[in-house]
Amino acid sequence: MSEDATPQEAWQAVDEYLMDRLVAEDEALATARESSARTTLPHIEVAPNQGALLGLLAQAAGARRVLEFGTLAGYSAIWFARAVGESGRVVTLELEEQNAEVARENLARAGVAERVEVLAGPAARTAAELIAADTEPFDLVFIDADKPSNPEYLAAALSLTRSGSLIVIDNVVRGGHVVDEDSDDPRIHGVRRVIEDISANPELDATALQTVGVKGWDGLLVARRR
Ligand SMILES: C[S@@+](CC[C@H](N)C(=O)[O-])C[C@H]1O[C@@H](n2cnc3c(N)ncnc32)[C@H](O)[C@@H]1O
Repeated sequence: MSEDATPQEAWQAVDEYLMDRLVAEDEALATARESSARTTLPHIEVAPNQGALLGLLAQAAGARRVLEFGTLAGYSAIWFARAVGESGRVVTLELEEQNAEVARENLARAGVAERVEVLAGPAARTAAELIAADTEPFDLVFIDADKPSNPEYLAAALSLTRSGSLIVIDNVVRGGHVVDEDSDDPRIHGVRRVIEDISANPELDATALQTVGVKGWDGLLVARRR
């Protein structure tokens, strides 16, 4: 790597080195990632090494049921679907029907359509319907939709999980702006409020890590219900 590399170039080079050696992204995953160009918000899916981490977290937790807020093209949903195995279930919530359709195609190509339900519509409303239907608790919830709604999604996740379930939240650092308490960005407010809610909740053990890589500087929060 050149001495003059910018931080982003250096993070990218290291991510590429690590992903080359450690992350087995098959054709279905690569196609799903690329197909995010056909969604309403191209290329904001997790990076391959983050997708692999999500799958490993689900496997380490022995998750059979995963709930995701924010589907996009179904890239992270494929990682979860593979992690829960044939008898597992993934429910993923997506606002835009266009994105839900792209995701369904990708899930079918990956051979996991039967274990993944893509529910189109505002996630807060769909989650409220799942709660009203007394849905069986999820073992892992991944929150990765519109950031201003993070506190509402956490509240829904608490109603849809059990003791021992994991709640994982993406994009909690946002280029360092999470520490900007005077920010007028509603996404920063959503991230700061959800961190405060977790901090004040004695039922949750949590930590968060900053990440750098192909997606820039951000972070991932992991919480576990006691
Ligand atoms: C960061 S992307 C999800 C990426 C996906 N988890 C992955 O890594 O492959 C966020 C998604 O949330 C969706 N979204 C935004 N607002 C939403 C809402 N109110 N309800 C449900 N989904 C929403 C967006 O349309 C977008 O597809």
